[in-house]
Amino acid sequence: MNCMNYIGSKYSLLPFLEQTIADVVACSASGGVFADLFAGTGAVAGTFKRKGYRVIANDIQHYAYTLNRHYVENVPPIAAERLDWLNSLDGEDGFVYNNYCAGSGSGRNYFTDENGRKCDAIRSALNRLFDGGEIGEDEYYYYLAGLINSIDKVANTASVYGAYLKHVKASAAKPLALELPPLVDGERGKAFCADISEVIRKVRGDVLYLDPPYNARQYCSNYHVLETISRYDIPTLNGVTGLRDSEADGQKSAFCSKRTVAAVFEDVMANADFKYIFLSYNNEGLMSLDTIRDIMERHGKYEQFTQGYHRFRADKEDARNHKADSTVEYLHVCVR
Ligand SMILES: C[S@@+](CC[C@H](N)C(=O)[O-])C[C@H]1O[C@@H](n2cnc3c(N)ncnc32)[C@H](O)[C@@H]1O
Repeated sequence: MNCMNYIGSKYSLLPFLEQTIADVVACSASGGVFADLFAGTGAVAGTFKRKGYRVIANDIQHYAYTLNRHYVENVPPIAAERLDWLNSLDGEDGFVYNNYCAGSGSGRNYFTDENGRKCDAIRSALNRLFDGGEIGEDEYYYYLAGLINSIDKVANTASVYGAYLKHVKASAAKPLALELPPLVDGERGKAFCADISEVIRKVRGDVLYLDPPYNARQYCSNYHVLETISRYDIPTLNGVTGLRDSEADGQKSAFCSKRTVAAVFEDVMANADFKYIFLSYNNEGLMSLDTIRDIMERHGKYEQFTQGYHRFRADKEDARNHKADSTVEYLHVCVR
């Protein structure tokens, strides 16, 4: 459903997740509530919406909220008659061009000048259309989710936004084309943009799927450019790479620190009002497999499933030379 190249994406693991979850949740809860509270690209949330669950999705990052707001809350049909008009707009010198493109003198090379200016034109038009009441929230997030996916395809990076490339690579030289993401059939769900520690106290349901970061790489630093395009909040940027102040944004994740991860995971488990809890976490993460088992066993019956998995690499081209570079992906289960 969604192919954005994203750290920890479960897109390629969907068959394993779907099968294991269906096996464990024997009476297959069509019509039940499925919560994906580290939802990222929305690959898992969208898949389970299509299966008939009412889906609750959450992510601390706003670009992820945008994607999930679309996949989970939008149901067909939604008109998209402004797509051609948005694609035909003249570029403008806005925040993206002024801060992420070399031609503006920003010193940064995340997008070509044309793509940065086109992105600004589309992004500011979406705000005008929405503020002027010409499109509703559903349409707004339909187009904005499309913009997040489409601009990511022409980013001049080795994949994440921790750095940009000096020379424009072939995929980044292509012109930005706004493409709409699929509309997912199913019941209208609910998306949140908050820390899981907040959301877990507000929601309840049948199946809880947890896919936290498993190492120290903060998503706010690796995807800060998408965050700014999604929010378009004109932040102060810092340093060579133009980072936002993620401390101020409240987006530094406690799951990315060895010191705090076990305590926040325990807190999530203690406050989860769900019968089935699934945790994706591999064998190289900040929490050991024993710690996970200890915590989950305190809250119900524990089981573990595994599948071999090709590792995410920052550079897709590099990945071709590392075919044997794989790790084991675990799905930990707690049944209440
Ligand atoms: C491994 S990724 C999830 C990938 C997702 N399952 C997919 O297939 O695209 C982890 C996600 O957790 C989010 N995250 C990190 N800490 C969080 C927190 N404390 N509360 C909510 N979301 C958080 C990150 O922004 C990131 O999108």
